[in-house]
Amino acid sequence: MNKAIGLDDVVVAETALSAIDGERGHLVYRGYWAKELALSSSLEEVAYLLWYGRLPTQAERTVFLQKWREARELSEEMQRWLMSLPRSLSMSSVLQSAIAALSDETQFDWPPTPDQALQVAAKIPTIIGVRRHALQGVPFDPPMRDWTHAQWHGWCTCGNVLPPRYVRALEAYLILTAEHGLNASTFTARVVTSTQADLPSALSAAIGALKGPLHGGAPSHVETMLEEIGDERLAEAYLRSRLEQGERLIGFGHRVYKTVDPRTEALKEIAQEMAEEEPWFRLALYVEKEAVRLLQEYKPGRQLYANVEFYASAVLKAIGLPKEMYTPTFVASRVIGWAAHALEQAATNRIIRPGSRYVGPMPQE
Ligand SMILES: CC(C)(COP(=O)(O)OP(=O)(O)OC[C@H]1O[C@@H](n2cnc3c(N)ncnc32)[C@H](O)[C@@H]1OP(=O)(O)O)[C@@H](O)C(=O)NCCC(=O)NCCS
Repeated sequence: MNKAIGLDDVVVAETALSAIDGERGHLVYRGYWAKELALSSSLEEVAYLLWYGRLPTQAERTVFLQKWREARELSEEMQRWLMSLPRSLSMSSVLQSAIAALSDETQFDWPPTPDQALQVAAKIPTIIGVRRHALQGVPFDPPMRDWTHAQWHGWCTCGNVLPPRYVRALEAYLILTAEHGLNASTFTARVVTSTQADLPSALSAAIGALKGPLHGGAPSHVETMLEEIGDERLAEAYLRSRLEQGERLIGFGHRVYKTVDPRTEALKEIAQEMAEEEPWFRLALYVEKEAVRLLQEYKPGRQLYANVEFYASAVLKAIGLPKEMYTPTFVASRVIGWAAHALEQAATNRIIRPGSRYVGPMPQE
């Protein structure tokens, strides 16, 4: 395997946003364990931490939350435009188009700012909610406007007022997946920012990169796989046949983690609390064990474990999120990390322009 082709271990930026130790399974956001933030902070506080470099004071927090709530509103024009998009467009594509459409030279001048980041992040659930309601032919009429971001996201994606423990689980998921170094979508956001394009352009390009099943498009595929297995007794045969055909098991393996992903552990704990009685969750636990065992047999020495997408699927299903909302929910969380990287890139900008090696023919003499 030519590692240079996938840019493994190539450092293209210095960052103070997150530290990942793939051997020990550590994830730190600006000096705090991501898992502890997930258990003790709100998503808005984590966004503040990533964008401003420290947690807010009480007064800063109040102002920030007020701005966040105001920013979630969408103009009438934008709402009409969302309703006019073709019905067949996936929600991730709707988000990609809608965020690109937010580009407005006066509001989103280069360089990007935390206020611009807030304007986009706060609107994502609303974009989903407006679009979802339009597809169902019902008016978008949220019962509460002073909700937290996680409550708002839950209502916009499920159409229900989520009970507090579900909101807490959703918020933990959103925090744990908000930032993760230079993965493909974050790298995309930094590349676009480095050209001095506006923030919505960088974020919509990043959604394009996230949509693929090798990155953020995986959790709904995990659920499909579990549905196809259906029964513990069929798991081994199903997984073996996939591996025999040279296919990848979705929800397993990670470019960086060569041990258990700390986000997977945290989500597994949450999912376990929520869904102990659920047969579907027991199936997920069983499939994880079988898959890890079979991956050791078919791919010895590769250190393949369940990745964050595997248990993200368990948590999101337990909350009651429709499958087609999984990747858009990943967008809603990761947009915070993308924006933080755009801010960091802009602060010391130099256009990103790697090289390639020509291996084609030369003109004949
Ligand atoms: C995440 C992922 C893209 C990382 O890929 P990567 O670091 O580039 O790993 P590689 O493609 O170099 O794979 C190394 C080896 O492990 C194997 N492998 C990696 N993930 C595998 C999986 N999920 N199932 C089966 N084999 C896998 C590869 O086939 C390769 O085997 P080989 O050396 O015999 O060719 C990869 O693990 C994958 O495709 N996983 C499934 C999709 C998924 O869950 N995506 C969500 C990511 S959070």
